[in-house]
Amino acid sequence: MQKHTLKFIILGVALSLISCGNQATNRATAQKISIEITENHLNLPVSQQAERGKMSFSIGENIDRTFVIRLAETPEYWVAANVSAYKGKTLKIAFEGDAAGLSKIYQSEQPEGAENFYLEENRPQLHFTTKIGWINDPNGLIFYEGEYHLFYQHNPFEREWENMTWGHAVSADLVHWTELGDALFPDKLGAMFSGTAVIDYENTSGFGTKENPPFVVFYTADHPDRETQCLAYSLDKGRTFTKYAGNPVIDSKEKWNSHDTRDPKVFWYAPGKQWVLVVNERDGHSIYNSANLKDWTYQSHVDGFWECPELFELAIDNSPANKLWVMYGASGTYFLGKFDGKTFTPLTGKLQFEFGAVYAAQTFNNIPASDGRRIQIGWDRVEQPGMRFKGQMSLPTELTLRTTPNGVRLFANPVKELDLLNDKLVVSEKNLSPDKANELLKPYANEAALRIKATVKISHATFWALALSGQNIIDYNLNFNTLNGVFYSQNDFAGMEVNAEIFIDKTTFQVFFDNGGISYCIERRPDPNNTEGFRFWSDRDFEIKNLEVFTMKNRWK
Ligand code: FRU
Repeated sequence: MQKHTLKFIILGVALSLISCGNQATNRATAQKISIEITENHLNLPVSQQAERGKMSFSIGENIDRTFVIRLAETPEYWVAANVSAYKGKTLKIAFEGDAAGLSKIYQSEQPEGAENFYLEENRPQLHFTTKIGWINDPNGLIFYEGEYHLFYQHNPFEREWENMTWGHAVSADLVHWTELGDALFPDKLGAMFSGTAVIDYENTSGFGTKENPPFVVFYTADHPDRETQCLAYSLDKGRTFTKYAGNPVIDSKEKWNSHDTRDPKVFWYAPGKQWVLVVNERDGHSIYNSANLKDWTYQSHVDGFWECPELFELAIDNSPANKLWVMYGASGTYFLGKFDGKTFTPLTGKLQFEFGAVYAAQTFNNIPASDGRRIQIGWDRVEQPGMRFKGQMSLPTELTLRTTPNGVRLFANPVKELDLLNDKLVVSEKNLSPDKANELLKPYANEAALRIKATVKISHATFWALALSGQNIIDYNLNFNTLNGVFYSQNDFAGMEVNAEIFIDKTTFQVFFDNGGISYCIERRPDPNNTEGFRFWSDRDFEIKNLEVFTMKNRWK
């Protein structure tokens, strides 16, 4: 059915010429249409071939939202704006650019193509993805009143980066997520860049009450002139937010002589009875303190990081008496050190616990003490070819500190909730030759999602690898001590055994190696002409001591 016949009323089409110096081209004019909003969504036709132009939504004389969009008369795909807040009102849409696509805009209860959400060909089945548009960093990860909140960098209007907005999803189990729609929209201070969330139980900010403590999010407002730190609060469990009138709360461009001051992470530091904010400024992470979340005092700086700071304390080998602090940045390299509420002192050089496509990972705030886990989610920088969404969140992992022969190291392992996605244990065998293992794996080569656990013993080889359709998932070299080209020396060589856990999804392989001592994500690039399926291979002898394979449920079903 041609959905454009759905009821929509264009009240008036006005051509207003906005003079732009001498450049009186088509792009310098703003075309306007008005629509009386009666449905929840406005469907907008876009194409990657079209140039971006500025669109604004106004009610009366007030501009409510401004964004850029590749509006196209012949859509490559559709995006949708939630316009439920405008119901019963007349929305004026102005567009500076090739306006031929304006006539195709129409409203409907559900976004165009909603019946196909999560059934798309290249929709990851285990990982969180957004329905429409681009996503990058996870933001504001927090557990509150039975819900895990995942906010994320979202461009609702294209499958590429732009218009940074905070998307929002919630989950009761870290595995099944429900998208709630966008939470924070760009404003005059800038686009909504990455940040954090806290619950202000003592109502130190005064935004709520102790009975209904404010749910406070911090974000960076990215403006061409400067990046500043801002906050917004919610009194309804993150469903709606009010931006603080006193924003920004930190403006440090001049101090650092840098535009790059961003991505605040905030937490309560109980021993000092104060809030701590860690933010990347110029060439490293700065630490600030506050008593009320609004007034911040600079304390110290740790050089050697870029973007997306994290700072948290972990017990070593599960022993609460023995703890260290972990500081990392967007790339997943980290220091272990001491922290006194004001200054972080590294006790190690830079170490690495994850690599590959994962970036900008954050950990959850406010996990109950009875649980006590440090749970991380990152952004997997991968494509889903041909889809109107792009990017996925990494599978949630539990971070731990363990003693190794190299000293204390950070480990990442899949959270236990991921077992909820196990469907059937289809292989469970011991002491296999590579040929036998490959034969057992053969029927599962084309599964959209699969979980494999393997322990491999090298008896006489310099490397072993596991490939799918000719693409190496694991390539482990004991001569050069590399794992997929990255230096890695396994923690214990006794017996020459090492284990790996692999989550295969539609467009990625996520691998936890050597008990989680190192993990990585790589894009899955199926070669339709390669029919060899899974292949354990090597230059000489090796043995698969243990092999378990699970088929997986589709999280969206
Ligand atoms: C990291 C990052 C952050 C920034 C955000 C913008 O991927 O560059 O530093 O806040 O993405 O989308």
